[in-house]
Amino acid sequence: MEIKKVVVIGSGTMGSGIAAHLCNADVPVTLLDLTTDISEKARERIHKSRPPLLIDKTKINNIKVGNINDNFDVVRDADWIVEAVVERIDIKHNIYQKIFAKRKNGAIVSSNTSSIPIKVLSEKLNLDEKKDFCITHFFNPVRYMGLLEIVKSENNDLNKINSLKIFCEKELGKGAIICNDTPGFLGNRVGVYAMQVAMTEAFKMKLSIEEADAVFGRPMGIPKTGVFGLYDLIGIDLMSDVLKSFIKELPQNDPFQIVAKENPFIKRLIETGYTGRKGKGGFYRMKKINNQKILESINLNTGEYSSSKKVDLKIDKMDITNLINRKDKFGDYAWSVTSKIIKYASSLVPGITDKFNDIDEAMRLGFNWTKGPFEMLKEIGVSNFFERIDDFKNNKFLEDLSKSKNENFYGDRQLYTEIETLGKIKPKAIKIDKNNSAEIYRFDNFNIVEFTTKANALDYDSMDALKNATDKPLIVINESMQFSAGVNLNYTMDFINKGDLKSVEKFIKYFQDTCKELKYSKYPVISAPSGLTLGGGFEVLVQSNFVASHTNIVIGLVETIVGLIPAGGGCKEMLWRWSQSEEAKKDPDYAPLKVFDIIGYARTATSPIEAEPLKYLKPEDKKIMNRNSLLDVSKSIIEENKNFSPPSECKFNLSGKPLKEKMTKILENLYNEKVILDHGLVVGNELANVLSGGDTTIDKTLSESDLYKLELDAFMRLISNPKTQDRINHTLKTGKPLVN
Ligand code: NAI
Repeated sequence: MEIKKVVVIGSGTMGSGIAAHLCNADVPVTLLDLTTDISEKARERIHKSRPPLLIDKTKINNIKVGNINDNFDVVRDADWIVEAVVERIDIKHNIYQKIFAKRKNGAIVSSNTSSIPIKVLSEKLNLDEKKDFCITHFFNPVRYMGLLEIVKSENNDLNKINSLKIFCEKELGKGAIICNDTPGFLGNRVGVYAMQVAMTEAFKMKLSIEEADAVFGRPMGIPKTGVFGLYDLIGIDLMSDVLKSFIKELPQNDPFQIVAKENPFIKRLIETGYTGRKGKGGFYRMKKINNQKILESINLNTGEYSSSKKVDLKIDKMDITNLINRKDKFGDYAWSVTSKIIKYASSLVPGITDKFNDIDEAMRLGFNWTKGPFEMLKEIGVSNFFERIDDFKNNKFLEDLSKSKNENFYGDRQLYTEIETLGKIKPKAIKIDKNNSAEIYRFDNFNIVEFTTKANALDYDSMDALKNATDKPLIVINESMQFSAGVNLNYTMDFINKGDLKSVEKFIKYFQDTCKELKYSKYPVISAPSGLTLGGGFEVLVQSNFVASHTNIVIGLVETIVGLIPAGGGCKEMLWRWSQSEEAKKDPDYAPLKVFDIIGYARTATSPIEAEPLKYLKPEDKKIMNRNSLLDVSKSIIEENKNFSPPSECKFNLSGKPLKEKMTKILENLYNEKVILDHGLVVGNELANVLSGGDTTIDKTLSESDLYKLELDAFMRLISNPKTQDRINHTLKTGKPLVN
């Protein structure tokens, strides 16, 4: 079965997201709704979406739009028809009747329902129709969420389901997990239960919402929005509807029923319009006081808002064992929540799936957890877990495990895919070297470096790991959300606050030396980014020999935002890339002026397609839809480059003073037009100094080392400047740049 044309019916949040993603995969798609006006508006929304749903916005018109009355004939040609209309069974039944009357023989029809069982959706279909009908449950936002649950029934032609899975994996890049027809499937059944447990236990144990979010967040390997933040993001009213549907669908004795019970506090919030970020506020809200936006949080006892107090448990990495062993309320809460999640998830095996592994992977792909419940159990240790747990009756999985006490119960990871993923091969490494910021996995023919810090921010140890891993072909890759958000500014500011400029200089110098080694070592170095690839993260990538990039990246040099300039070779490398262009051959100032603009404005790209015109990526860099395939592609690059020889060193001819004057003029104009202010001018001048080659003249050729030196000197002057320090501190405190 080949899928060449798709029709999506319903152009709301999900339908438009699915259509946009099919467009990303270059699959012709038509989006239908009640009226063409609605689907037109959906297309406009796709075009304006932030973060963008499209990898390449210029392709927007590849999404055709229409309405279900005049344009329904497009269904005749479609190989796959996706229904994504409102969650109402009568409406869905009507649509199926229309679709099956028109579809071509054998075309797949699927629903994006999040809660209606397949047996109910398909109750009016005949056996032949049922054969081709399934649920394809995408997550929002479709481009960015890895999980796709494909729900099958006993009537399905399994070959067809499997080829749909392969299509969604290969072309759409999804982690496609096939599930049984049970309420909430895998992801939501466990994910929503986990949220409810985290919430009800916070109420019960009298934790503030910040305290609960501080535990049920990074330390547990869960995104930092925590539980209350996530509630606000999803919509408190929407969550209430989801819970009602679980209450209806699940048996009375399912433990989910206890945590899904209506909570009077939440009911009041919804009734008064406090539905989360989209409403007047939620558990958190932004309040404007004296023209300043202040984050407030609600008191779970009184319902009053007051200024939010950040709770920092000083745990940046997932560390569940230490967390549950803490002798304080945080430890008690963590254990209570974690043990309940593990108990519940394991009670669902084999009912919702016989592969517990799929539950873990669904939590990673659909909820961005670092580890699923069964991996948490493995980390806590089987014996430790059973020493602390009270009862687990009617839970066959735990009963069996309590007898075997098999600490190695887990087995392999990511069983849902045939692809040889990073997750699958890590346990097969011959040797693993670790430091505080990275891990090196050593194999026969290559090494892997995986950064392990928060947002994979880079410090001395990250560089050390890279440097120590260049004795073989090296792949820089990871499983977390970001490739690297850049240099660790906290780490850098710690030195600054102690007045220790020498250590900052030593670190930046080591960063440069490491990147130089990546570029010129005997063996190829491949960077395989996904997510944020910014600042220092980009400098690692740009000085690797090859790139295998996921299509979901945010890439660029953003240092000027905090009053710095790139100093790990970013200016130098961009200068080199732009100086290879045709225009640069005619005009020696073309490349430096281009780079001045790109770095000066901290331009970023949100996909490889956007990155190429900025030369953040090269046409020959690999662009990959399925994140799981990054390793495979990187390995094939190594294979293809058995006779690799490192590039020859670059030389730069920069026109020095006259070029710097041109840049100064640009800055003066921007300053007069108030596009940049005082400190912007200082930063701009430092950038101009580097990109023009300092005070050199045209007859001097600069080496890479000269440029590294210029970058380092400029960086050190800027980081010593209190105005830059203010900007960095503000960004570290608020997560947002200082605009002035
Ligand atoms: P939505 O309310 O944003 O969009 C529904 C669209 O269906 C609207 O544009 C509406 O005009 C259209 N529609 C209604 N009746 C129609 C008909 N007879 N023919 C054609 N179009 C019709 O809803 P949303 O959020 O996109 O949800 C769609 C489906 O996806 C639902 O089944 C929902 O349960 C499911 N879902 C939603 C998720 C979410 O995060 N919003 C996540 C996963 C699944």
